[in-house]
Amino acid sequence: MNTLLDSRASHTLHTLIPTNYYKPPKQQSYNPFQPDTIPIPSHEMAPTTQKKWTLSGQDKGFDGLTYGDAAVPKCGENEVLVKLNAASLNYRDLVIPKGMYPFPLKFPVVAGSDGAGEVLEVGSKVTQWKVGDRVTTLFNQAHQYGPMNIAASQSGLGGVIDGTLRQYGVFNENGLVRSPKNLTDAESTTLTCAGLTSWNALYGMKPLKPGQTVLVQGTGGVSMFALQFAKAAGAIVIATTSSAEKAETLKKLGADHVINYREDANWGQTAKALTVGNVGVDHIIEVGGAGTMEQSMQAIKFEGIISVIGFLGGAESKTSVIQTLSNICTARGVYVGSKEMMEDMVAAVEANDIHPVVDKTVFGLDQVREAYDYMWAQKHFGKIAIKIE
Ligand SMILES: NC(=O)c1ccc[n+]([C@@H]2O[C@H](COP(=O)([O-])OP(=O)(O)OC[C@H]3O[C@@H](n4cnc5c(N)ncnc54)[C@H](OP(=O)(O)O)[C@@H]3O)[C@@H](O)[C@H]2O)c1
Repeated sequence: MNTLLDSRASHTLHTLIPTNYYKPPKQQSYNPFQPDTIPIPSHEMAPTTQKKWTLSGQDKGFDGLTYGDAAVPKCGENEVLVKLNAASLNYRDLVIPKGMYPFPLKFPVVAGSDGAGEVLEVGSKVTQWKVGDRVTTLFNQAHQYGPMNIAASQSGLGGVIDGTLRQYGVFNENGLVRSPKNLTDAESTTLTCAGLTSWNALYGMKPLKPGQTVLVQGTGGVSMFALQFAKAAGAIVIATTSSAEKAETLKKLGADHVINYREDANWGQTAKALTVGNVGVDHIIEVGGAGTMEQSMQAIKFEGIISVIGFLGGAESKTSVIQTLSNICTARGVYVGSKEMMEDMVAAVEANDIHPVVDKTVFGLDQVREAYDYMWAQKHFGKIAIKIE
């Protein structure tokens, strides 16, 4: 089956994604859900060489990324060889070469954490997978279940372990999750980091309930997943953005209220005033860091959860932890999630037929460097997919 070509997904892009985004000249304008765009090898034999992106270190920024030939790795007895058909980018992939990433790294490393594809070979002791299975990568390969621990935090793909911006990868069998049946590989790959982080934020500590209010910041990958998961759960969503055009798309995706954070500096109070009884919001997907925490503290409800996820607006926050007392709330650091959580998320994605929001500009594997620039310029909406042939 050509999994990237599942036509059930097509309505999402056609109806919800603006059509007039910037397109760099070299790029293909490509719809990951249209037939005839990506030939997927089915049960093919692995070649001996492949293309991959390697990051040499943190001293050259994006120039530290090089595209070249490499051997296709051999499968160990507990490992699985995967033909990667799609990858996606995260803000983390951009800040690693810029020296702004706070977790362990090794160099050189194959960049990228998110990947989806098909099992080509299995090691002699593998029990979970067979040739032809559709799989998606787990971000922290050693985070299988339960709370995060030090060993698991040091097992990130594209950070400590070779990642997914390549044609073929060998992974421990525990480091893969079944891809949702309703998603193409270009959609499924986006679950690895952004999807699982949002799932963990909403369900990892104090599970979201129908009727509660969720605030999502901006229109990046993590926030769009949170919007979709929250709507599927019967929650009310308040979204922020800096763009009037993106505000319209947010409404089409189901946001109940949209606030322009550039026009409304006190958007935290505005959000609180939008909740029934002006009590504040139950969950905040806090991706702005220093740029947003002060307003998040204005918006949160007593006993609400601020999931501290990112630092798009800077890492040096002026907000004091003592404000969790004055606002009687919990601010909780979130680092992606476990395989157990990812399997729960896959079930929810299938049951609710959720299709991740993928930017309409999709890049080829040889155009990863352009994709980094496109994402750094924040020209995207939702996730950026990389097509791998
Ligand atoms: N802790 C974890 O496990 C984890 C996992 C994934 C991501 N993250 C972090 O979470 C953050 C978001 O990741 P992402 O992949 O979703 O990023 P992204 O796709 O690059 O998000 C970009 C969007 O965020 C919005 N934004 C930028 N600056 C903002 C600000 N100061 N206030 C509010 N919104 C702002 C903008 O939306 P508009 O254009 O609509 O204004 C922008 O388009 C990053 O810092 C990333 O490192 C952490």
